[in-house]
Amino acid sequence: MRVFLAGATGAIGQRLVPLLIDVGHEVVGTTRTATKVDGLRLAGATPVILDGRDGEAVRRAVLQARPEVVVHQMTSLSGNLDMRHFADSFADTNRLRTETTDHLLQAALEAGAGRFIAQSFAGWPNEQRGGPIKTEEDPLNTTPPPEVKETLDAILYLEAVTTGTSGIEGLALRYGGFYGPGQALGKGGAMFDGVSARQVPIVGRGTGIWSFVHIDDAAMATALAVDRGAPGIYNVVDDEPAQVSEWLPYLADVLGAKPPRRVPVWLARMFVGEPLVSMMTKIRGSSNAKAKRELGWRPAYPTWRVGFREGL
Ligand SMILES: NC(=O)c1ccc[n+]([C@@H]2O[C@H](COP(=O)([O-])OP(=O)(O)OC[C@H]3O[C@@H](n4cnc5c(N)ncnc54)[C@H](OP(=O)(O)O)[C@@H]3O)[C@@H](O)[C@H]2O)c1
Repeated sequence: MRVFLAGATGAIGQRLVPLLIDVGHEVVGTTRTATKVDGLRLAGATPVILDGRDGEAVRRAVLQARPEVVVHQMTSLSGNLDMRHFADSFADTNRLRTETTDHLLQAALEAGAGRFIAQSFAGWPNEQRGGPIKTEEDPLNTTPPPEVKETLDAILYLEAVTTGTSGIEGLALRYGGFYGPGQALGKGGAMFDGVSARQVPIVGRGTGIWSFVHIDDAAMATALAVDRGAPGIYNVVDDEPAQVSEWLPYLADVLGAKPPRRVPVWLARMFVGEPLVSMMTKIRGSSNAKAKRELGWRPAYPTWRVGFREGL
């Protein structure tokens, strides 16, 4: 099949290109950056330089590619994300999740593509009441911290238009927290270095529940979604959602760091703000049963316990 991969140089994109080529798909892959074009060509994709905010350019590129499947992996999360200024850090990504999703979806429809797959997120958007592990059927958080609202609205918008547009099969993949080479939680990344330097504390009792996924497993689930799975939302997370109080000391141990410090909620709120405090103390995990059942996906790192030791 012909696949238009918007954001072919990002965390998922760069891994997805070879997976798709290996099973015989043709890939047209985008970047904004001229110096990344040769790398895309070497990986087997046809490169296109594209700014996702330019609707007419998106339309032209998609129509020219005549794809059967469009995969939207454009985000703007590189660099040091400052969780204290959550809204500012996610502003560009919010536009890519709203305006650019519209541009890509309209172009996909016009080009006659049959399938549209978009990157969403599992974790802090989940409702923070009830059981510890949420499925795709469970509601999302309706009362997020104010700084997070615009980002949650952008995720909700992306999921609604992706799965609710008639004339095309839409799948929204809610990835858990990525870890692995090249990621913030991978060798040399900000989170990796922060935990190594004992700068990431357990806030309160560390009762926030995180769902992780190794970046290679996330890319494999995406490759499977190109030709499997009914339209809808899928959690792409590992088998073991876990409290911060459990995974953070484990990660510190794996990295050879001292055990994380402990910080009371009131103090953390003053220094890092409510979004991060909520992630450390309140968020819920996600179930991967649907992705396993309907995509036939089996993560190579079924739990972060193995992945943190072998896959960073
Ligand atoms: N679920 C998760 O935990 C999650 C999800 C996503 C990202 N992250 C983390 O965030 C960090 C950065 O992510 P990333 O490597 O995927 O990089 P990124 O900066 O988010 O870029 C992703 C892709 O989007 C493209 N892009 C960005 N802005 C664009 C625009 N305005 N128009 C068109 N394309 C645009 C980039 O192309 P260019 O080649 O032009 O840069 C790249 O192909 C990593 O640590 C990653 O693990 C985590």
